[in-house]
Amino acid sequence: MVCMNVLADALKSINNAGKRGKRQVLIRLCSRVIVWFLIVMLKYGKLVILKSLMITARKTAVNLTGRLNKCRVISPRFDVQLRDLQKWQNNLLPSCQFGFIVLTTSAGIMDHEEARQHTRGKILGFFF
Ligand SMILES: *[C@@H]1O[C@H](CO)[C@@H](O)[C@H](O)[C@H]1NC(C)=O
Repeated sequence: MVCMNVLADALKSINNAGKRGKRQVLIRLCSRVIVWFLIVMLKYGKLVILKSLMITARKTAVNLTGRLNKCRVISPRFDVQLRDLQKWQNNLLPSCQFGFIVLTTSAGIMDHEEARQHTRGKILGFFF
């Protein structure tokens, strides 16, 4: 199984499901990046992780909560300095009170609010 672009594919299927009013999506978990991205979305009530299948199957079902408008991967993974975070928020999110940018940092994968406390990182994507 090729794991290229799995994050992009996962976010696309979540996005499409949301647009079609579908509530459940099956996600292939072939990279840790996906798992952590889903956990950030889970933290903000955008989805519910239903069940992890066997580790060999590496799939999980997620239910959308109806509170997700959009999620998307950003490619390439631009390096984001803390002082540039605001600029990225302005560019990607509908308003600064609304939505999250997900970054991979030396301290793990986290949203921009958390990254602001810590460290710069590389941008993975965003959701709102
Ligand atoms: C998840 O979605 C399925 C299909 O829409 C539904 O039958 C099920 O009750 C949902 N489960 C939870 C925990 O939201």
